[in-house]
Amino acid sequence: MVNRNTSKPREIRITFFPSGKRGWFPKGGVTILDAARTLGTDLASLCGGIGACGKCKVRITKGVEKLNPLTEQERKYLTTNEVKRNFRLACQVHPNSSIEVCIPERSRIGKLRLQTDGFEVPVKRIDPLVKKFFVELPVPDLKDPRSDEDRLIAALHEKYQLPTNIQIDFDVALDLASILREGAWKVTATVWKNKIIDIEEGDTSDRCFGFACDIGTTKLAGFLIDLSNGRVVALGSRMNPQVYLCEEVMGRITHQIMRGCDGIRELQKLVVQGINEIIVECCRKAEVNENEICEFCFVGNTAMQLCFLGIYGRYLAYAPYPPVLRRGVDVRAKKLGLKSHPRANSYFVPVIGGFVGADNVAVILATRMLESDEMSMALDIGTNTEIALGNKDRILVDSCASGPAFEGMHIKYGMRAIDGSIERVSIDPQTFKVNYRTIENKPAIGICGSALIDLPAELLKAGLIDFGGRLVAKMADETDRLRKGHNGLWEFVVAWQRETATDIDITITQKDIREIQKAKAAIRTGSSILMKRMGITENDISHLYVAGAFGNYIDPKNARTIGLYPEIQLDKIEFVGNIAGTGSRMCLISKEERDYAEHISTKVEYHELAADKDFQTEFINATFFPHKDLSKYPETVELLKKLGHFEK
Ligand code: FES
Repeated sequence: MVNRNTSKPREIRITFFPSGKRGWFPKGGVTILDAARTLGTDLASLCGGIGACGKCKVRITKGVEKLNPLTEQERKYLTTNEVKRNFRLACQVHPNSSIEVCIPERSRIGKLRLQTDGFEVPVKRIDPLVKKFFVELPVPDLKDPRSDEDRLIAALHEKYQLPTNIQIDFDVALDLASILREGAWKVTATVWKNKIIDIEEGDTSDRCFGFACDIGTTKLAGFLIDLSNGRVVALGSRMNPQVYLCEEVMGRITHQIMRGCDGIRELQKLVVQGINEIIVECCRKAEVNENEICEFCFVGNTAMQLCFLGIYGRYLAYAPYPPVLRRGVDVRAKKLGLKSHPRANSYFVPVIGGFVGADNVAVILATRMLESDEMSMALDIGTNTEIALGNKDRILVDSCASGPAFEGMHIKYGMRAIDGSIERVSIDPQTFKVNYRTIENKPAIGICGSALIDLPAELLKAGLIDFGGRLVAKMADETDRLRKGHNGLWEFVVAWQRETATDIDITITQKDIREIQKAKAAIRTGSSILMKRMGITENDISHLYVAGAFGNYIDPKNARTIGLYPEIQLDKIEFVGNIAGTGSRMCLISKEERDYAEHISTKVEYHELAADKDFQTEFINATFFPHKDLSKYPETVELLKKLGHFEK
């Protein structure tokens, strides 16, 4: 791929609007999507460019006549009207001549709302694995001719009871003699585990920092922490830059399979770049030097951690999906390319299985599920949803692919949570008037995950869909919002054209509702099967933790109305934000918590959903709103009866 400023034979120019970014590329050698990525242009791609999401729609404003004919995928995702207006899917076009491309508002990734906070869990004791110790050494003389090494270790032992078998990193030994003398024998030693990894003149013992990070498939959330007191001094977040290549876990694994070592390196470089940006931002905010970051702690799903470590994760794609590594990993931060102290360690929290990663270990750690007598369930809703159920005696976990629909994939006007996306919706069950709220109150451009939960719940309460999720055609006599779309299929208008920034009606279609049903059914099946295998019912659950950036914005009642989770009393449901990030902080500041995370990864039992004999039946039952077995949702049934829209 080429990006230069001057034209060469057999090169074409691609210009993007409204950004005005342009570059030269080989004739027919790249797609419009490739060119956008190369130029760092904001263009959505949920499927990684394989023509399976329809989110990379662009309008060709110059040069459309010389482009390759519409592909099969484009015929699937573009309406007749869009084709007439020269819309194409950016990933399906390989331009042979110079073109100009307009990226419409709804095809841009935009400013993603990222949830970085999680509720705080006090660790029992602040006891990081890396610490700084200030000592004053006796000056050597003829009566005390000990080596510099022995002198330092003895002083550390005397003042802080550090073991006498502690080692000095060879790189530290290189400068030890001069630093001791130039520091007038008053020095600070940085000790990681049982090794001195730095020696500095004077007392710098109050300047020891760590960095904890949640490596999400979609987002990165980082926390700069003062290791002397365990406090977060700055935090930051970014989209995981890997989303520009492909947005799903499986897409990233496929990328490695297709591109081999180059693919892994590419993914690794991107994630490191994103994390380094957060480190720089946090250090600037807290006035900390990157060299003062002496340890890192990372949690992520198994595929993300392998990518980060540069380990080939292709076998995660094949049953029984074995992870390469299960235990926690220590690796020098500089080896990974992180901005840090030259000998800082990076600790990767252990994983449970191929699709239940360190983020799930962190959730179990931070919720204290494994220490409680009471039965708890934790849903970590994301592109992949991990579910844990249990108490101190036993914890079962499983994982399901729930992300695509709630992230906006396969939903006609679905999108991520960015400015202008509709995040909350309510429908008056009598007048069918729609009230919605957009992020930052910007004119509507699409619908994000939390509203995709509100919509079926509100449609159900208004009698506009039935329990099977079908839009009720006869209700079209009651409201003009319910209508047949261009393709002859039913749809419901959420926002009229005059209210939107996209100049079109934003609707939820029958097909969209089917996609939501599949996603919510996957999550509900995950919880139903775990309850069955644990031999309990929803009445036995004392706490339901709903975690994840997405989870924090869901209306708990509507999520229950559609049957996203079992009908548990609302006061037992707790939204805990980015609790995986909390778990990573705990492992960073406490050796005890880190050891406990290792224990969790061995204690927790992974249950493979796909292999469960009840999976199919449970899944089909869970596709109903709220569930095929309505006796499991008595409160919801009562509510629907009260609203006058209960029809069994
Ligand atoms: S259809 Fe083009 S990126 Fe998904």
